[in-house]
Amino acid sequence: MDRPIGVFDSGVGGLTVLRELVRTLPQERFVYFGDTARVPYGTKSRETVTRYAIEIANHLIVRHDIKMLVVACNTASSLSLPVLRKIYKIPVVGMVDPCVRRAAALQRHASIGVIGTSGTIRSGAYDEALKVAIPGAAVRSLACPLFVSLVEEGITAGVIAQAVVTEYLEPFRRQPPDSLILGCTHYPVLKEPIRELLGDGVTLIDSGEEAAHVVDILLSESDLKWRGERGGEVRFLVTDDPERFAAVGERFYGGRMETVERIAL
Ligand code: DGL
Repeated sequence: MDRPIGVFDSGVGGLTVLRELVRTLPQERFVYFGDTARVPYGTKSRETVTRYAIEIANHLIVRHDIKMLVVACNTASSLSLPVLRKIYKIPVVGMVDPCVRRAAALQRHASIGVIGTSGTIRSGAYDEALKVAIPGAAVRSLACPLFVSLVEEGITAGVIAQAVVTEYLEPFRRQPPDSLILGCTHYPVLKEPIRELLGDGVTLIDSGEEAAHVVDILLSESDLKWRGERGGEVRFLVTDDPERFAAVGERFYGGRMETVERIAL
């Protein structure tokens, strides 16, 4: 199956998910779509985020003939996944289920923390999915709105990063959960200060890592895996300023992005 996998996010953050996908499936082709003209999604309503998500999915399906859609944005996953799954025939993978699956599979799963954008936390998507997967688990959810700007400004270690992380996550330090779901594209970049605060007793669940695992299984199960000789390839599409995307994005992707194309929806 030589069709690409579509990965979309509100901007650069989803590159943490793409990085894991490329690491797990190096021979696949990917088209990454960053909606940089309309970021952030984390403060927007369900209606608006769903409208954006449908526009992007239509573009990726019609113009790029993707075989699978990965909604890398946790906010869009929390707010729009059921609608996207109803509309499209191709498999649609979000971030919520892979993280919940991982939390449930851990030996200690009586108490789980969830952090994300205001939109993700307000949606209650993680709480609902966790209640179904692990009945009786104590779930505590917390929005950490400043984390996104912090990471985009490159402040991921040092006094300021540690102070902001402590400000938000102090309740989890006082009463540590068994695991903490990093329910936002940007949060894996803050793993270090989060670990520093919470210690090794709290398992950090990274949505990119978990989603890559699920995508791998799903490709095999639905016989969509590329089995040829050719090496992988990634195309980057954005709705605003390719230069800024490439500069800021390197931190998330962990490598250079040679060409970034600007497109209009
Ligand atoms: N990509 C978003 C998420 O994972 C964070 C950035 C935004 O608010 O758009 O929720």
